[in-house]
Amino acid sequence: MAKILIVDDEARILMLLQSLLKANNYEADTAKSGPEALEMLKADSSFDIVITDLRMAPMDGMTLFHEIKKFNSQIPVILLTAYASVETAIDAMKNGAFDYMTKPFKVDEMMETLKRAEEYIQNKGGGAVTNASQPLRYHFENLIASNKSMQAVCEMIERVAPTSATVLINGESGTGKEVIARSIHKASPRRDRPWVAVNCAALPEHLLESEMFGHIRGSFTGANNDKTGLFEAADNGTLFLDEISSLPLLLQGKLLRVLQEKEIRRVGDNKSIPINVRVIAASNTNLEDMVMQGNFRADLYYRFAVITLDIPPLRERIEDIIPLAKHFIRKECQNNHTEIEEPVLTKEAATILMNYQWPGNVRELENAVKHAITFLQGESITPELLPPRILQRTREIRATQPDVTAQESGENVSLKGFLKAKEKEYLEEILSSTNGNKEKAAETLKVSLATLYRKLADDPDDLGDSVKSD
Ligand SMILES: Nc1ncnc2c1ncn2[C@@H]1O[C@H](COP(=O)(O)OP(=O)(O)OP(=O)(O)O)[C@@H](O)[C@H]1O
Ligand SMILES: [Mg+2]
Repeated sequence: MAKILIVDDEARILMLLQSLLKANNYEADTAKSGPEALEMLKADSSFDIVITDLRMAPMDGMTLFHEIKKFNSQIPVILLTAYASVETAIDAMKNGAFDYMTKPFKVDEMMETLKRAEEYIQNKGGGAVTNASQPLRYHFENLIASNKSMQAVCEMIERVAPTSATVLINGESGTGKEVIARSIHKASPRRDRPWVAVNCAALPEHLLESEMFGHIRGSFTGANNDKTGLFEAADNGTLFLDEISSLPLLLQGKLLRVLQEKEIRRVGDNKSIPINVRVIAASNTNLEDMVMQGNFRADLYYRFAVITLDIPPLRERIEDIIPLAKHFIRKECQNNHTEIEEPVLTKEAATILMNYQWPGNVRELENAVKHAITFLQGESITPELLPPRILQRTREIRATQPDVTAQESGENVSLKGFLKAKEKEYLEEILSSTNGNKEKAAETLKVSLATLYRKLADDPDDLGDSVKSD
């Protein structure tokens, strides 16, 4: 059983929690303040989990949490908070706190959270880590995630998958919210049970309710038979509520009740049916704003916001672009019934992909690859096979770059043009010293890979002559 350190400035809470944990066979020690807790943790590395109150003096729980993370980034920290500071706790979760519980907490909930923390400790360093030199810690089937933030998302997937906690996935359209929701399902003990997805924006209110909860015969005009709802269909599995922001207020209330009471009532029925469903929601609008405007229930929002995954847009995770493109090339070739060899992505095409802004995110990239493969003739994907929109945008960017060729023709050049030409020379020098390895070059130049690619794209030769007008 895990060894737990409880931190609170109220002696009564310390005693209560300690006896509760001991009654449940945990080893539990107490600290009356943040500094005392830090001393104990530094002196004894056998503590597995920390439970701390948020509001304490002289050191509050949030500071304690950050201090602990400085010397032990792995230990799960659970925060205890009054309702008023839930937002601080959510922030802490985003920064790596394991979970938070509002006071007064339910014994079952506390035990469930501790069980999850124990599972996390056991899994940590287990199967997910492939080998020490492997930079990617996490791997989920069909989920490409090379970027750091995406690796953090994967870590969260791993942490929440064993539980039945509700999860909210935020992200622009096409960022991969549904793939991530599916990954949670597939990594969870529910993986062999149903996965049911419903798009809340796709149905009118009256249909949505009967779609979600079912109805009984005669409950409204056209209800000729009893109907099972999606919640029942997803029993013991996972229900994915896409575009949750489109859920009408009335249904938000009903959903909250279902989540709290774990039972549903079909439209027109007066008896309840118990259900065991894990709910994952996705949204591409800011729900917090909607709460402020009164268009989304705060209580439902908090229910979901406990575990939030923010998926960055593709333009902010440039390291994912080429691995994703290669993944889609492979996928497209496998799906294509005509037997085509897997084409290679040329350097020129790759540079264009890396420099494009991807307003449609991963979905747009997937479509770009499909487009290229449809028109493929040779063995490689060259720039002209990419969708016209992407080429057009690339040309527009190039057209706004300063003209440095004037220097070669002996005309006077602006200082900016001159510096650009020098910069180019230097970039080339470093690149040749790293044998063309852009990651190493970026490291030497102390710029991000994204910046390096942007600077290289400024170089007309790097885009190749193959970028033709359509
Ligand atoms: N990280 C990823 N690895 C592999 N494929 C991905 C990844 N992210 C997205 N995709 C693919 O991109 C496409 C779009 O992803 P998905 O449908 O999950 O996006 P979404 O965020 O739900 O979009 P929307 O908001 O429009 O519903 C899908 O075909 C999905 O398989
Ligand atoms: Mg989606």
